[in-house]
Amino acid sequence: MTNLRHWPGAERRRPSLGSPSYLHLRELANAIWTFAESLPTSSDLRLLDVGCSRKPYYPYFATRVRQYVGVDASITIGQPDCICVAERLPFAEGTFDITLSTQMIAYVDDPVAVLREMGRVLRPGGTLLLSTHGLFPNMRDVWHMTDTGLHRVAEMAGFEVVRIIPNGGAVMCLFQLLALYVGTVTNAMPGPVRRVLVPLIVALNIAGLALDRLAGGRAAHFASANFLVVARTAGRN
Ligand SMILES: C[S@@+](CC[C@H](N)C(=O)[O-])C[C@H]1O[C@@H](n2cnc3c(N)ncnc32)[C@H](O)[C@@H]1O
Repeated sequence: MTNLRHWPGAERRRPSLGSPSYLHLRELANAIWTFAESLPTSSDLRLLDVGCSRKPYYPYFATRVRQYVGVDASITIGQPDCICVAERLPFAEGTFDITLSTQMIAYVDDPVAVLREMGRVLRPGGTLLLSTHGLFPNMRDVWHMTDTGLHRVAEMAGFEVVRIIPNGGAVMCLFQLLALYVGTVTNAMPGPVRRVLVPLIVALNIAGLALDRLAGGRAAHFASANFLVVARTAGRN
């Protein structure tokens, strides 16, 4: 039996305090874990992870779903069960109970078409769990979403939005941006300088966490670095 603690992608589930992406990844992992924990153990559910790469959140669902299928357009880093694009999933209608897609939708040409395809392979009343960047300057992203934009694309694709969970409030977002900025600037610097600046990222992460708590996670509609969408396809639950 695989030791799930050492499952790949630990930097997604337990990002280190010295990581410039710590704040939003920590909040995202907590939100996905809260969803997974709400599922009954040893259920009969089938889950599809789209754009799975190393399936970093598999350990959260391992004892809660009967089948966990990961698909990805590439095998460069991960080990998908099936290589295919999200635009054309090789599964029949209604095959899955849950579709999970983390940090993938920002890369596709047509997010609505991709969500519609995810909805097609979900059973009626099935659940979509979709995470993506909000105010987060990743230059490889095609799209940065807002709460309103996510509502719109999910509804245009035929989903009923249950909840959009901001992964941190506005204060956390500001500290997330600062930590990213420091991380980006220091990347171009020689090793010894980089090492000196790591404590600054740690300090920004701790401050962002503490101050956002003090602020009660407020004003996420104003600025949040990442979102997790929970949505349902029409039909029975
Ligand atoms: C930033 S990684 C996220 C990986 C993983 N879901 C996570 O949260 O760590 C984005 C992944 O989406 C995959 N991807 C991008 N566009 C895709 C598409 N159109 N169809 C399927 N996979 C795609 C990439 O190959 C990559 O593995």
